[in-house]
Amino acid sequence: MLRFARFLLVPLLLLVAILAGLALTSQPTPTPAVLSELGERPLVIAHRGGRGLWPENSLFAFERASALGVDMLEMDLHRSRDGELVVIHDKQVERTTNGSGRVVDLDLAELQALDAGYRWSADGGESFPYRGQGVRIPTFAEVLQRFPAQAKVVEIKVPGVGMEQQLCELLTRYQQRDKVIVGSFYERSLQHFREVCPRVATSAGPGSVRLLVALDWLGLGRLLSPSYQALQIPEQSDGIRVASPSLLRAAQERGLNVQLWTINEQPVMRHLLDMGAQGLITDYPDRALQLLGRSTRITSLSDR
Ligand code: G3P
Ligand code: CA
Repeated sequence: MLRFARFLLVPLLLLVAILAGLALTSQPTPTPAVLSELGERPLVIAHRGGRGLWPENSLFAFERASALGVDMLEMDLHRSRDGELVVIHDKQVERTTNGSGRVVDLDLAELQALDAGYRWSADGGESFPYRGQGVRIPTFAEVLQRFPAQAKVVEIKVPGVGMEQQLCELLTRYQQRDKVIVGSFYERSLQHFREVCPRVATSAGPGSVRLLVALDWLGLGRLLSPSYQALQIPEQSDGIRVASPSLLRAAQERGLNVQLWTINEQPVMRHLLDMGAQGLITDYPDRALQLLGRSTRITSLSDR
């Protein structure tokens, strides 16, 4: 019996020592320039430029969202066949344009010949007000040129093809390393990006989110020294609640800016802000701005 207790005691003491060591050495992440410049107020982040209001991931959307007064533009990156970083969400062009095929199989000229306003409708397909209006798929370089001062959330959609290095080169060339938070659903892509582009803000990948949720659940959130600066999470994932008051508190104690996606209804926005959310990633930035008293209008098509 005594031998069994001793057998348990050694690993237990070791575990306590490791946890104590981690607790003593863990550090919150410092606030990156992109966030400190935006101040303390809740951030309104236009998801794909505000896809509920106008054709997603287009210069038109980014211009209008910017003019509305959003804090950040969110956008998605793929790579064309001839190696350009282009701003589009899906790996196929069918859902958003009048074309067909995979982004990776089309050259930039072919992608930019497509009508990226073709499929957008506010009335379930009764009308298509942006067809033939010259809305097209932008390159990421075009976005950087057009919106140098605007803070952005940039998502790498394809891992392992060199987009991380390319993204870093563009941010460096256009002097916007301190204007972005880079995210991805691919942990390895984020790790690679952090290696090639140190000191550029990133958000937690899915593995890091799971780790933080687990640590918080065990009451050990303060052991974490995050290598990222933002936590971009859904309210729920696979029916399981991700965003809890306790998680938001733990994340903020570690210096993280917590941003929720994709939040489109004002009562839910209110509830999450009351819970401590610091950013709302939304298809309807007009609703968030109105809720926060930063705008009195809800945008409509007649604003065009
Ligand atoms: O930040 C993640 C958010 O953008 C949701 O993902 O599929 O709309 O790119 P998705
Ligand atoms: Ca995205």
